[in-house]
Amino acid sequence: MTDKNQSRLTAVKGMNDVLPEDAALWEFFEETVRSVLHSYGYRQIRTPILEYTPLFQRGIGEVTDIVEKEMYSFQDALNGEPLSLRPEGTASVCRSVIEHNLTYEGGQRLWYQGPMFRHERPQRGRYRQFHQVGAEAIGYAGPDVDAEMIGLCARLWEAFELSEVKLEINSLGNSAERAEHRAALIAYLEKHQDALDEDGKRRLYTNPLRVLDTKHPDMQQVAQAAPKLMDYLGAESRAHFEQFQRLLKLRGVRYDINPRLVRGLDYYNLTVFEWTTTELGAQGTICGGGRYDGLIELLGGKPTPACGLALGVERVLELIRLQGFDAGAQTDVYVVHSGVGSLEMAQQVAELLRDEGIDTIVHAGGGSFKSQMKKADASGAAFAVLLGEDELKANEVSLKALRDAEGQALHGGPQERVAVRDLPLRMLEELGFGGLAGAME
Ligand code: HAM
Repeated sequence: MTDKNQSRLTAVKGMNDVLPEDAALWEFFEETVRSVLHSYGYRQIRTPILEYTPLFQRGIGEVTDIVEKEMYSFQDALNGEPLSLRPEGTASVCRSVIEHNLTYEGGQRLWYQGPMFRHERPQRGRYRQFHQVGAEAIGYAGPDVDAEMIGLCARLWEAFELSEVKLEINSLGNSAERAEHRAALIAYLEKHQDALDEDGKRRLYTNPLRVLDTKHPDMQQVAQAAPKLMDYLGAESRAHFEQFQRLLKLRGVRYDINPRLVRGLDYYNLTVFEWTTTELGAQGTICGGGRYDGLIELLGGKPTPACGLALGVERVLELIRLQGFDAGAQTDVYVVHSGVGSLEMAQQVAELLRDEGIDTIVHAGGGSFKSQMKKADASGAAFAVLLGEDELKANEVSLKALRDAEGQALHGGPQERVAVRDLPLRMLEELGFGGLAGAME
């Protein structure tokens, strides 16, 4: 849609552009995530953004907010097939694992990242196109991989220096235990029907566990006093939960047990967890996940235990921003040039620098030395290399530092002449290994 006078085109509501000023933060985040996931042996999987709608209906559950009201679903205009933009990644990954028989030779540790789509009411931290990083350990019965998921998150939070995040865990038991609890819960909720809101009444028989997940203030008391699933767990489920906790303690991760944590997707059993923060307002859940031992079979595969998680990228990025993220230098060198033959020389010098892995921008668009230097400053480069007629004659450049070692802008710093053939080595020494871009304060 366009604005009121129908002239200005805008992005779809709740779907955001990632602008260049945020690129360094996104790249820092993505590189950290990739390296942490690799360090645990996770390999990347990329699935399409569109899937057949029944995958999500069956996988996530018909009586969930996502499937009931948040999916972008439509019929393919060419052949009428029901399609949906993916609202999450787990169902798609399982579909792909089944389709390509990926667990044929044993368990698979997989991860993915990319946009997800949910038609929610947009607000801070809640978008209609948002990004997730997900990890799925498929073919493992746990609870070791359950704890591995948590350790992996803890390592990510450490890397991002996020200390104010809290872990809540719960166990949803197995299906027989849930059925027994469900019967008791329905009987209890029937007795308190008057206190239930519309959603609560509607879900009483279809998804009573979700009734407990209510934010409605009048229903808190009823939810609080309801029969707890934890009390219906058998010996095996309890042992799983206890071993999971032992491994968390061993890893030094602190957690709270929240018996009302049920998650918004139907595929979970046994371990579930959420990481939350109070620093982001209402949308404080930055990561959620758990076991989904029945999902692959439900989607037509062989029974295959699995556990996974997904984190909300925009929310984690917001936390990193609040923590203080300094993008540092945006590029290493900006080459300014003026006079006959200087452009050609500038381009040659730039290629010599790039041969050494030094990021180099050559000024384009003409202008005086002074105006080019302004552009060099604004580019966020660590150094300016100047080429004028004098330098050209001597086969030299003038080198000027624009930022100090901490990445802070320098004003009116000294300038020195360096022979062109010595420049690459000199720049490597000045810049140090690993470059300057992307660092925490
Ligand atoms: P989820 O809890 O629906 O789980 O989403 C995971 C995370 O995505 C949330 O904790 C939140 O940070 C982020 N998120 C969800 N909706 C939005 C939104 N509208 N705007 C911004 N961020 C959002 C899943 O999606 C499961 N697939 C997780 C999983 C993987 N379970 C097992 N494996």
